[in-house]
Amino acid sequence: MDNEQARHRVEELTRLIDHYNHEYYMNDRSEVSDYEFDQLLAELIALEREHPELALPTSPTRRVGGEVNKSFKQVTHRFPMLSLGNTYSVEEIEEFESRTRRLLDGTPFSYSCELKYDGVAIGLTYRDGRLVQAVTRGNGSVGDDITANAATIGTIPLKLDGTYPPDFEVRGEVVYPFEPFEAMNRQREAEGEEPFANPRNAASGSLKLQDSAECARRRLMFCPYFVMSPDDYTPTLPTTHTGRLEQLRDMGFRLQPHLAECRDIADIKAYIDLWDHQRWELPFGIDGIVIKVNQTQLWDRLGLTAKSPRWAIAYKFKAERVSTPLLSVSYQVGRTGVVTPVANLQPVHLGGTTVRRATLNNADFIEKTDIRQGDWLLVEKGGEIIPKIVGVDPDHRAEGAQPVGYADHCPECGAQLVRTPGEAGHYCPNADHCPPQIVGRLEHFASRRAMNLDSLGPERLEMLYRAGLVANVADLYDLTPQRLIGLGAGSAQSLQRKSADAIMAALEASRQVPFERVLFALGIRFVGEVGAKKLARYFGNIDNLMAATPLELAMVEDVGEVTATAVSDYFARPEHRQIVERLRQAGLQMAVATTQTATTLAGLTFVVSGVFETFSRDEIKAHIEAHGGRVSGSLSSKTSYLVAGEKMGPEKRRKAEQLNIPIITEEAYRNLADPQQ
Ligand code: IVH
Repeated sequence: MDNEQARHRVEELTRLIDHYNHEYYMNDRSEVSDYEFDQLLAELIALEREHPELALPTSPTRRVGGEVNKSFKQVTHRFPMLSLGNTYSVEEIEEFESRTRRLLDGTPFSYSCELKYDGVAIGLTYRDGRLVQAVTRGNGSVGDDITANAATIGTIPLKLDGTYPPDFEVRGEVVYPFEPFEAMNRQREAEGEEPFANPRNAASGSLKLQDSAECARRRLMFCPYFVMSPDDYTPTLPTTHTGRLEQLRDMGFRLQPHLAECRDIADIKAYIDLWDHQRWELPFGIDGIVIKVNQTQLWDRLGLTAKSPRWAIAYKFKAERVSTPLLSVSYQVGRTGVVTPVANLQPVHLGGTTVRRATLNNADFIEKTDIRQGDWLLVEKGGEIIPKIVGVDPDHRAEGAQPVGYADHCPECGAQLVRTPGEAGHYCPNADHCPPQIVGRLEHFASRRAMNLDSLGPERLEMLYRAGLVANVADLYDLTPQRLIGLGAGSAQSLQRKSADAIMAALEASRQVPFERVLFALGIRFVGEVGAKKLARYFGNIDNLMAATPLELAMVEDVGEVTATAVSDYFARPEHRQIVERLRQAGLQMAVATTQTATTLAGLTFVVSGVFETFSRDEIKAHIEAHGGRVSGSLSSKTSYLVAGEKMGPEKRRKAEQLNIPIITEEAYRNLADPQQ
């Protein structure tokens, strides 16, 4: 393909993909199969890679992400991002309404009412119809530049249609709709990661991801609610807020269909009422509604208070609360042995769903809340999906009611539960023989960040365990296709030849998984990914690690006393040593691979700080290690050099000077690592 043909094809693909994206994100319509769409996108990515001059900043390939955010630049907002006055009381909304009417003194006007989206506020700057910057609210004056991540959100147009100001800002909220939020959380749990507490936190965390490709997978949504334009352009914008939002829709934003124009307080109250009930049917969370004076020329007349405009107010929904009898308490045992008490409730309707169970968190919670037998519990549902127990209903307390107490024994294996003084909850100490703990450890071992045995999901592992084939992680490597085929016959998990082969292939591939991940996969208490990496690098192989005393273990950076004891206790158990031995026999990596290419930095410890010209932070760290050096996160008397990039903080410099540690530039570092160059 010559350059001219390539240009044509890029244009054609861009047009097609933009069109399909628009239909998909704005109108919920899929005009092509996912497969066809992916093919077109892959072709465009390939062409842009071959002809970088053809890759426009507004190319739909940006939606895929891939740009890495090394750090988020702080940006001062051109127009400060104000917040709104808010209230939970309808009376205060009535006061707002009559005050506004009084101040406007007979001028005819109306209100625009819209949803108060429960997400993260951002501002999008468009210049000549192109998205040039996306910034979080931050403290209202300064926020983080999250452009690369925002560009992956399908409902944020990269280029605008219709008429628009030449240089202006669109403000709105990034929300995480319930469905993709829950799917993502389920996946996190399956992989042994902490789930997000609610969609808002998850939206905020997603916008701050270093890897924009990961952000692209999160299926966030943007809800616009405001246009900010410089004064000289403002006269050409529609003169009502609802009109401006409609213009945003014509530009290509997805406007929520819940916008309403209200004439008076009765209309406003009806709108509040409607959404207080219907909010549970929305695909995303809202925490109230926002009322704005609709005629924008009146805004200046009403003015601002210290932090918020006088022409708008937010009404926040109260969390819905009901009281219902506690029927019984059951106990769930997690993969680490932590026991969670669960209240079984008389089913009760709350915020659009029927609640039957709710967590009681731990023994501490039960004691503090003073839950007694026969009590009625107060259950609340706020802007979130998960109902919470917030207390005991005093009206239903029977005289002489006894505390509910707490289970003595594990409901799964019968072992006596343990509660460490000072800890909030109980755990089952029978780690090696308690079924959910065994399956939990298998799941952790198989998870993506550990051994990545993708054909062994939780249900399959449970089945293998129940069939008596696998009781610990080493048993996985004794599996054969013959033993697998035919398992679970008649169930959805039934294993055919193809699945058995896939399992064997995944196990085979896992023999190449680096030692640090094998160590993480063992599931030693308190040893997360980072800890495993540090331990692996420090000790080099499993034998050194198993021989280490708690004192030696605690020498490793980021390994505290608690972790050191946990590691030492783990390897003190003969059955664990036996598992390690069997995994070694099975061919798993039990030592760090020597990717080291040089030893010019052997024995030296480096701290790196600031931004570098020829390296990313991770690259310079890898470079140091590849040359035999060590990288440390903080300066100490053991540091050999501080490699200073641009924008290194003065605090670091002062500390290095105090400790007499040589501060070297990136170039000097290069000379040290590769002296022959
Ligand atoms: S209007 C000057 N409209 O609620 C007008 N805000 O304290 C500024 N929010 O930080 C905001 N939905 O993040 C507006 N429909 C909506 C909103 C909304 C959610 C958030 C926004 C702001 C906070 C108000």
